[in-house]
Amino acid sequence: MAQLWGGRFTKETDQLVYNFNASISFDKKFYRQDMLGSIAHVKMLGKQGILTEQETKDLVAAVKGILQEVEAGTLEISHEYEDIHSFVEATLIDRIGDTGKKLHTGRSRNDQVALDMRLFIRQEVLAVDGLLCEMLKVILATMEEHLDTYMPGFTHLQKAQPVTLAHHLGAYFEMFRRDRLRMQDIYQRMNDCPLGSGALAGTTYDLDRYYTAELLGFDRPTLNSMDGVSDRDYLIEFLSALSTIMMHLSRFSEEIIIWNSNEYQFVEIDDAYSTGSSIMPQKKNPDIAELVRGKTGRVYGALISLLTTMKGIPLAYNKDMQEDKELSFDAIDTAKGCLALFTGMLSSLKFCQDNMEASAKNGFTNATDAADYLVNHGVPFRDAHGIVGRIVLYCIDKKIAIDDMSLEELKAISPVFEEDIFEAVSMETCVKKRLTIGAPGQEAMKQVIAIHQEYLKQDWKKEIPDWESELLK
Ligand code: ARG
Repeated sequence: MAQLWGGRFTKETDQLVYNFNASISFDKKFYRQDMLGSIAHVKMLGKQGILTEQETKDLVAAVKGILQEVEAGTLEISHEYEDIHSFVEATLIDRIGDTGKKLHTGRSRNDQVALDMRLFIRQEVLAVDGLLCEMLKVILATMEEHLDTYMPGFTHLQKAQPVTLAHHLGAYFEMFRRDRLRMQDIYQRMNDCPLGSGALAGTTYDLDRYYTAELLGFDRPTLNSMDGVSDRDYLIEFLSALSTIMMHLSRFSEEIIIWNSNEYQFVEIDDAYSTGSSIMPQKKNPDIAELVRGKTGRVYGALISLLTTMKGIPLAYNKDMQEDKELSFDAIDTAKGCLALFTGMLSSLKFCQDNMEASAKNGFTNATDAADYLVNHGVPFRDAHGIVGRIVLYCIDKKIAIDDMSLEELKAISPVFEEDIFEAVSMETCVKKRLTIGAPGQEAMKQVIAIHQEYLKQDWKKEIPDWESELLK
């Protein structure tokens, strides 16, 4: 048992209590953020004259040394310490003696852990944004290839109207683009530095919180020390955004599973992204898509868990908040893994264009267009709806498509039909005529694709300063 406190205790902590309380097994994940935070804190203490120049130099060098050794794998983060903060401080004292004991001047583990977690999550927000960007590139490239790949558009999972694969995928582009906007939004809102909040009421030392905030790449210090140590809103927002990403991935997965089924055969999943059955030799299963769909619940679970943990906590820090870590780490790893795998699966997915087109042709997806033809020839829409309904019944009975009927058959139901009906209800015409922005018509889609190409050229992250290199100089 190695802990930072003990002065006011007369008995050892019970081993079970110690184990229950300790967080090193998971908070070692942000060892880097912890040490960067310490370097910034020490530099600020030095600038303010709270530490001497020599002490500042020795402390910064020693923390850098520990960081380098941990990253090189030559120093192991030992689980004998209570948490990552204790590990760093104890190692420091081991190495530089009394100067090491000055590291924690004007700081509490409460503002320290608030900082570490915020730095860690801020970096994960950027990582998720990067993965979303890769996904958007793959979707856009696929859209560009499939402007003329016709397929049925569905409502109620019933064939509704013909669309193109480019248009269908374009819906996912919108979803993941909004997910990226959420990352940018969260980043901006969370970019306040809690360091210097102390345990809850700031400190009596003359800290320069603006300086530490700047050293750590924040826009400003947090403006209330009680909130600084106990705010986890940014994490709830991030878990909520990750849940939305998972919901999008899960819907997309569900479509791929349906499209990959024997009945649909719209897609073929690459061998590298599918699995077989131990008993049924003919099987090629969409396990990746199913797992992504399945793992969505885990990420939702993390969001609900944290919301529930936070809802009864009085100000300011309470130990309940330690529970924010494991669930977040799991949710982040899950969502990042799913995004990366799904992008790979999508980029290697084969679309069976002939089956898609045949399906669009066979499902009366041009029925609305047949009714519009009648309307354009003076038939009131409600009557046209009824006439085409009778045509569909006739076709179902004969097991044919509207396009397969002869002009005589059509005229027998309504004399308004002329030879040009066949051109009017062809799938190409049905799609091409849908020209307003956002519709599947090729000309409209080309405009949208141009907008997306411009969008993907911009990168909001390039404004972010490289504070880490600056701090470690
Ligand atoms: N392991 C703690 C956490 O994750 C660090 C803060 C400890 N502070 C305290 N007062 N016990 O929240």
